[in-house]
Amino acid sequence: MSSDELATIEQPTLQGMQSETKLSGIPRHIAIIMDGNGRWAKSHSLGRLAGHKAGAKTVRTIVEESRKLGLRYLTLYAFSSENWGRPEAEVRGLMSLLIEHLRSELTTLTKNGIRLRAIGDLSRLPEKVAAVLQDVMEKTKEHNSMDLVLALSYGGRDEIVSATKKIAEKVALGQLDLNSICANTIQQHLYAPDLPDPELLIRTSNEFRISNFLLWQIAYSELVVTKVAWPEFGADEFKACLKEFANRTRRFGLTDEQLVEGADR
Ligand code: FPP
Repeated sequence: MSSDELATIEQPTLQGMQSETKLSGIPRHIAIIMDGNGRWAKSHSLGRLAGHKAGAKTVRTIVEESRKLGLRYLTLYAFSSENWGRPEAEVRGLMSLLIEHLRSELTTLTKNGIRLRAIGDLSRLPEKVAAVLQDVMEKTKEHNSMDLVLALSYGGRDEIVSATKKIAEKVALGQLDLNSICANTIQQHLYAPDLPDPELLIRTSNEFRISNFLLWQIAYSELVVTKVAWPEFGADEFKACLKEFANRTRRFGLTDEQLVEGADR
């Protein structure tokens, strides 16, 4: 990697990387692609919506477990920009499930000091979903133990396009110098600029794809794919993923020797 390329990786620094590798245990931010609801349902001779309902129960388990483990940010891919293309009944069912889940989880979020946030093109959400979402976000906005970020109507490419438009507008209005644009400028114009990059991305149900999720933010995330379908994913499997993460060495494009040198400083 050239020094120019290295310079574009603004964070973490070599020292930062070291402290992260040493901390290894629990990452600050975990992102999850919750996959396999449909296949799980099929394998139990159930309809797809029954799979999503079972998936919503897993959401509760993993949110509670994350809080117990001391995670600071948990981002869940709940509905992608491409999911709008699914059969109407499934989309409607998922939206109803979201409303139900958000309403029923408010007490748990409050009890556990969890702030609910959302990323994505929220303008596409049905009015009722948007209203409940806003309500729960408003009621939990002062909570500061953990942020639960739901990616809803979310697409990584959309997010980058949206950031690009905001930046281009500022340049056109003379509020931003073209030559000052760097990776941090993009970061500052994402849906949630303050979110640190996830150290760990988990995908359930044995699919080795990113599916347009957090394209900018996962540049150096560790990926763990588990065979378990999301409705069957529980605290034990979650901990197994964390264990796998803890055994990884994060090099950020550097060499093992550089990491050792950095640790000696
Ligand atoms: C992918 O499984 C899952 C989704 C598209 C939706 C995820 C939704 C939930 C887990 C439940 C509701 C969410 C919340 C936050 C309450 P799939 O349908 O693509 O599964 P398949 O690949 O086996 O068909």
